[in-house]
Amino acid sequence: MFHLTPFLSSSARTGLSRVGRIFAALAGLMLLSGCEWWRMDGHQSTITVEGPVARSQLHVFYVTCWVSLVIFIIVGSVLAYAMLKFRAKSAADEHAEPPEQGHGNPLVELGLIGASILALVIIAVPTLRSLWYTFEMPKDPATGKPVEAYEVTATGYQWWFKFEYPKELTAPDAGGARQPIVTGNELIIPVGRPVRINVRTVDVIHSFWVPKLAGKVDMIPNRANFLWLQADKPGYYWGQCAEYCGDSHAVMRFRVIALADKEFKAWLENEAQPARTVQNRTIAGAAPRAQFNALRQFKTNEVGVSDKFDKDPLKAWQALRDPQPGEDPVLIAKGRELFAQKTCVACHAIRGHGAAGVSGPDLTHFGARSTLAAGLIENTPEQLQRWIRDPGSVKPGNKMAKGYIDNKITLSNDEQVALTAYLLSLK
Ligand code: CUA
Repeated sequence: MFHLTPFLSSSARTGLSRVGRIFAALAGLMLLSGCEWWRMDGHQSTITVEGPVARSQLHVFYVTCWVSLVIFIIVGSVLAYAMLKFRAKSAADEHAEPPEQGHGNPLVELGLIGASILALVIIAVPTLRSLWYTFEMPKDPATGKPVEAYEVTATGYQWWFKFEYPKELTAPDAGGARQPIVTGNELIIPVGRPVRINVRTVDVIHSFWVPKLAGKVDMIPNRANFLWLQADKPGYYWGQCAEYCGDSHAVMRFRVIALADKEFKAWLENEAQPARTVQNRTIAGAAPRAQFNALRQFKTNEVGVSDKFDKDPLKAWQALRDPQPGEDPVLIAKGRELFAQKTCVACHAIRGHGAAGVSGPDLTHFGARSTLAAGLIENTPEQLQRWIRDPGSVKPGNKMAKGYIDNKITLSNDEQVALTAYLLSLK
């Protein structure tokens, strides 16, 4: 490839230089376009990290990269030197006998062994340091004892995540009983504080991974394990199951939302309350209003997240704390009725509304979540109806789709709209 152009026709040469110009223009465009690709700041970037655990793991990655780069440059240079120096310069060279071959220069061989060991040691030191750092809860430098971490239990299900707060109890129910706060697919944590996450599974092996914060730790049946992570600043972080676990593994996602102390306490307080109830008041003489919107078909695999939401997900999440304007109490009451009638209550719990199923996510404060279907689609009326109408087309093979078939559940468009209104009212 060193002297390629002299052998090419002049038309091929202009073709090549045109390709070169296009490449240069593209590279220039990419550099000028805000360098998004270069920062590699995607939702699940392990390069743009936001917490100490992910930072320590990134450090190991960089050390390995630099060591590899040095080896690449040394080996590549020796190879290039040999190729240039010993290349055939004439027709006679091409048919010449190979020069005398040397075997086993002790200096070179010992040197290579030494260099390999050195490279491995350079990689091993930060690797082991990071292993110990992530394996134990961080210690308080003053007392030397592990710091008091915030504790959450994450449980993998095919295909969603349950998050339980063992030390935070719900408000007493009618019988005076309290239970740990439970939520699904959105893990809310306090910012700037180590969070201990106990990982469990009820079925197959899953893996808990929040690329910008920490990862990955497998959720293995009958084996208790944990990891810790910490978010440096309030934010909205993407999580993903990182161990193949069946049909919908790739879409088994979740979110971690890190909140400042005050917001976190407010969230906990609201979460402890039973589900919000919208009173179905009808004014005497007036006909109850029920708004049904038109049916919209979605393509399989159609993206379920809007640009506005994607631009500032934390703000979008915060906007969902309060009841949305234009709620329709008649529709919501109908949805609540349907939720029991269509046997949704068998799998989902809605505290205070008489639903206590445990095989699906707890929906007590579902309307305040920014996503649904294991973090796959945005929690908007349109997307929620898409899910309720045909869950199997969103998350293939899931239990809800199977439940529809097994229990012969059919939902008309009006029924889907009513269920949507009801679920979104649960703040
Ligand atoms: Cu759960 Cu992959």
